[in-house]
Amino acid sequence: MKVVAFNGSPNKEGNTYHAIKIVADELRKEGIETEVIHVGNKSIRGCIACNQCVKNKNEKCVLQGDEVNEWIQKMKEADGIILGSPVHYSSLGATMKSFLDRAFYVTSINDGMLRHKVGASVVAVRRSGGLPTFDQLNNYINYSEMLIPTSNYWNVIHGARPGEALQDEEGVQIMRVLGKNMAWLMKLVENGKGSVKEPERESKVYTNFIR
Ligand SMILES: Cc1cc2nc3c(=O)[nH]c(=O)nc-3n(C[C@H](O)[C@H](O)[C@H](O)COP(=O)(O)O)c2cc1C
Repeated sequence: MKVVAFNGSPNKEGNTYHAIKIVADELRKEGIETEVIHVGNKSIRGCIACNQCVKNKNEKCVLQGDEVNEWIQKMKEADGIILGSPVHYSSLGATMKSFLDRAFYVTSINDGMLRHKVGASVVAVRRSGGLPTFDQLNNYINYSEMLIPTSNYWNVIHGARPGEALQDEEGVQIMRVLGKNMAWLMKLVENGKGSVKEPERESKVYTNFIR
């Protein structure tokens, strides 16, 4: 089993990276490897709402010249996914949002590519905005019928300069517990395959409140 983690921070080894790494270290102890992909330093434009991906249904965003399609395939191949972001103005990082909007639009309209994979979000913040950002990241996971492991608090770690989050003892524990629970949930899912019947996927009811 393998996990792909997306680091939405511009800092390669900042606090978001450390949050991901603590989770990944626990996964590794349970035999699950994590590939960390650095998203936040890339040049990724946002979704242009062209809806070509809905028409094409080929697991691709039509926008060219960046890594989004490659990363969509990484998610497809993985058993678990971690979304990590720093807090920027009480929100997730802008580059991460550009990536997630495009990637999850594509995965959702291609027969629920991420359905029943295990997914967790982690957030790094100096002071305030951790929970709205955690909520924003979880919106992508919830929309995809993914399975969410929890910790003993919300998955937010505190620090300002890169690496400072390692001094947040409670935050470190939150990530550690998350990693343990994520590994366990992934094993439950894996071991249940073939013996516990997966619910059938319903086609999406799509209303907009006026028709
Ligand atoms: C553009 C920008 C906006 C930020 N906005 C907030 C904020 O709204 N609230 C906060 O507590 N920290 C804010 N911060 C601080 C970061 O969330 C904090 O330093 C975090 O640990 C960075 O994670 P990283 O090292 O992975 O980049 C901001 C930082 C930047 C660069």
